[in-house]
Amino acid sequence: MSHADEHQGTRRDFLYYATAGAAVVVSGAAVWPLVNQMNPSADVQALASIRVDISGVTEGTQLTVLWQGKPVFIRYRTDEEVAAAQAVDVSSLPDQSAENANLAAGAEATDANRALATSTGSDEEGGENWLVMMGVCTHLGCVPLGEQGDFGGWFCPCHGSHYDTAGRIRKGPAPRNLPVPVASFLDATTIQLG
Ligand code: FES
Repeated sequence: MSHADEHQGTRRDFLYYATAGAAVVVSGAAVWPLVNQMNPSADVQALASIRVDISGVTEGTQLTVLWQGKPVFIRYRTDEEVAAAQAVDVSSLPDQSAENANLAAGAEATDANRALATSTGSDEEGGENWLVMMGVCTHLGCVPLGEQGDFGGWFCPCHGSHYDTAGRIRKGPAPRNLPVPVASFLDATTIQLG
């Protein structure tokens, strides 16, 4: 093998390994949340509904799961976040509808109508702290960022929409609150979507 061939071979190997390495990183990032968050029985149910283990979600943190190809935010809100959302006058909101698939159409966008009650009722400790909603901006579909924006909730950087700590649109071009999907507590540490 000439010196030139040897050099080429080395270069090809380098490109090959570099590409393979990048592919592993990408697929790892995309696949891991699905594998990690979905109950094994979920594949049987063809994603119509999934069960999410929320035992690892502590107060002030959020879990994002993919459901039917879209991100769903599951946030265990702090008491301060709940209080801030409760203090808002619904009549001042751009979208005064709860946008909650678990409630009748026309339900008001109060904090209680946005939060997910626990299986034992929302009077229980932490019962009003859980917020489950689609992580899809109602403007043009970007994924908003948590704990950001003027209202300490979510901020969509695509065109500057600010959502509050109940996921209600407060400022910017988005027309509606982040939708609350069909969801319920199966037990204290399991939420079913769908
Ligand atoms: S897509 Fe979110 S502000 Fe436009």
